[in-house]
Amino acid sequence: MLDLSLDLLRRNPLKKILDTERRMRESTPQTARVVSIASGKGGTGKSVLSTNLAVLRAQQGERVLLVDFDAGLANDHLLLGLAPQFDLGHIVEGRVGAREALVAGPHGLKLLSGGVGRHGLANPTRRELERLFKALRPLEDEFDLILIDHGAGIGYATLAHLAASTSLLLVTSHEVTGLSDAYAVYKRGKMVNPDLQVGMVFNRVPDRESADAAWQRFRDACKRFLGNEPEHVGVVPADQAVSASVDARVPVCLHAPTSRAAHSLASVARWNRIETSRSVSPFFERAARALR
Ligand SMILES: Nc1ncnc2c1ncn2[C@@H]1O[C@H](COP(=O)(O)OP(=O)(O)O)[C@@H](O)[C@H]1O
Ligand SMILES: [Mg+2]
Repeated sequence: MLDLSLDLLRRNPLKKILDTERRMRESTPQTARVVSIASGKGGTGKSVLSTNLAVLRAQQGERVLLVDFDAGLANDHLLLGLAPQFDLGHIVEGRVGAREALVAGPHGLKLLSGGVGRHGLANPTRRELERLFKALRPLEDEFDLILIDHGAGIGYATLAHLAASTSLLLVTSHEVTGLSDAYAVYKRGKMVNPDLQVGMVFNRVPDRESADAAWQRFRDACKRFLGNEPEHVGVVPADQAVSASVDARVPVCLHAPTSRAAHSLASVARWNRIETSRSVSPFFERAARALR
């Protein structure tokens, strides 16, 4: 049995298998899987996680789109060393189509930036969001995986996304402030979407004990007050390699692939829910419906 599978792998290296999968996908078009990344609190590492996830999944041969929904305060392009000409704001204003606003990053991933310092989408109206979701909808047919990096807080756009999402990666620090805000997002997410699959990522933790204590605390609160609990997906250590990679504008999975942080991020990128986060109807249609 083992010999047989080894032999198969030898004759069919991973690339060949992925190529076959891609050809199958192309002959039976499917909409993209969509994963939201949120936290409630700012500075917890959502963008570091989102950009590394995007690179790691693209590296495996997936067509990945990263949407930086921290509109007006976007920084995924900085973390990826990109200088996009257009962003979500230009799409809402009708100045460019969604496809024109994409910029290519490492391993062919595409980024749709949220824009910096533009007032446009910081507090979007329902009509603006509806227009945006409608413009983004066709992109779902062109990618395997769409990652949505959210801003801090639980604004209108984030709630609509949570309502439409199958999977959410909730990023938090081990500190009580981070946990409290993450709990608020978890609670609201489950309220608007009881089927939402939530995976917890503890980022920038000083040691294993702090991460374990934080998880225990979070899980107990969810079980006690909400009667359900998220899934523990990963712990990313506080690592100097991350700061260095931010300065270099190259994601840590490429800048320091053997660092502890890169190893942990790679394990988050293997979260099995990413495989199953395809919804029955298109994501952006569901998000638009959630606005009503
Ligand atoms: N695991 C980590 N180790 C060290 N520094 C980190 C780590 N994760 C994030 N950081 C630092 O925190 C900053 C904020 O992270 P970011 O992903 O932009 O947060 P968010 O998107 O949640 O606001 C980054 O610029 C980086 O310098
Ligand atoms: Mg961010």
